[in-house]
Amino acid sequence: MDIKQVGIVGGGIMGAGIVQTLSSFGYPVYFKDVNDQLVDKCFMQVEKIYESAVKKGKLTGEQAKERLSLIKGGTDDKGFDQVDLVIEAVPENLEIKRQVFHLLDRICKQGAILATNTSSFSVSRIATFTSRNSQVVGMHWFNPSHVMRLIEIVSGVETSPEVVESVIDFCGRLGKNPVQVKECAGFLVNRLLGIYMNEALFMLEEEGTPILIDQAAINIGMPMGPLMLGDMVGWDVIYHSNRTLYEEYGTRFALPKLFSKMIEEGKLGQKVKNGIYPAGQEFVYPEHIESDAHLQVLSNRLLFVMLNEGIRCLEEKVASASNIDRALQLGAAMPKGPISWADELGLDILFQGLERFKAMYGERFWPSPLLRRLAQAGYLGNKSGKGLSILA
Ligand code: 3HC
Repeated sequence: MDIKQVGIVGGGIMGAGIVQTLSSFGYPVYFKDVNDQLVDKCFMQVEKIYESAVKKGKLTGEQAKERLSLIKGGTDDKGFDQVDLVIEAVPENLEIKRQVFHLLDRICKQGAILATNTSSFSVSRIATFTSRNSQVVGMHWFNPSHVMRLIEIVSGVETSPEVVESVIDFCGRLGKNPVQVKECAGFLVNRLLGIYMNEALFMLEEEGTPILIDQAAINIGMPMGPLMLGDMVGWDVIYHSNRTLYEEYGTRFALPKLFSKMIEEGKLGQKVKNGIYPAGQEFVYPEHIESDAHLQVLSNRLLFVMLNEGIRCLEEKVASASNIDRALQLGAAMPKGPISWADELGLDILFQGLERFKAMYGERFWPSPLLRRLAQAGYLGNKSGKGLSILA
């Protein structure tokens, strides 16, 4: 299907970035939200992104105005009967999603593709809220959605290959990199980020020093620390996603106690100007913190849980080794893909490190069966000339 016009439901942080991306590539966009205040907020967010693009010299003021004029927003269903694709980006609440998909199924033309930006619910389940299961697909964007170049494409059990092909082609036309991932809780990127952010909160419970924990991530080359990332994405969003991971995968995703405390106290991050870091404060990392032995342990804890989860995803065929690497670099700005990173580090080093951390901190560090097998059979990664990449 040739996608020419698009509808967006939900104009929050993610939805606004999606609206801006689509309009910036010349697509007419209809978006809807539940009240005028939220509609205005979405327009303001989109305008802010355009203003920044003009300031950075990426667009002229005139071009920005033209692209803004492609956007129609409101609380009604106007335009939704014409669109070829709808992207749902409403809060992670199954009942809300049920109502939205039920409505879309009724008002959208036959043949229109209905995509969900869910980070935690099953696409197959969401598809059952419609009478067009084969036309429902997962299109999982990453925050900030106008910046991050990855979109995970997820098929439900009945999604048609033509629908998948159409959305993959469409993502390419938006300058994004689609990566097909198997349907499972957290898909791919959120599994690695989820376990990494849990680990950061466990450290915070032990240490109480956010700067040190974030610095431990910066030292391994992450673009921002996990606690800053949580403030950016919203702790309620991450809590919801990580709870789903726990329900599906069990104890290695057990939630730090701090999570529910933060939710109860309303410390949801930048959107409410109250998170791990103080209200609305622009956080500046210290110039340089020497990487001492303690900081190195924190860095290794953050890195090893992520690499281990990446290897589990490889073993479960969530995606190929090269796609796992590509997705994590594009969706979470990891400096190296987790599979090649593990091969470079040495699978024996990773395996022994995980075993040590397992003895100290518990089951969440349990080495993946594939890692154990390879490390014990002498497939040690780059240094032995054979490792995970031979499975690519
Ligand atoms: N909140 C919102 N937008 C932000 C931001 C923040 N805290 N920090 C930066 N940005 C925006 C800027 O406004 C700017 O937008 P513009 O292009 O419209 O002006 C853009 O990001 C680039 O900013 P900078 O030039 O300052 O670039 P940096 O080099 O500092 O990069 C970053 C910022 C792109 C956010 C980078 O730090 C990064 O890649 N961080 C990792 C992000 C990540 O992991 N995202 C995935 C989260 S998980 C997810 O979304 C899945 C969902 O299901 C939960």
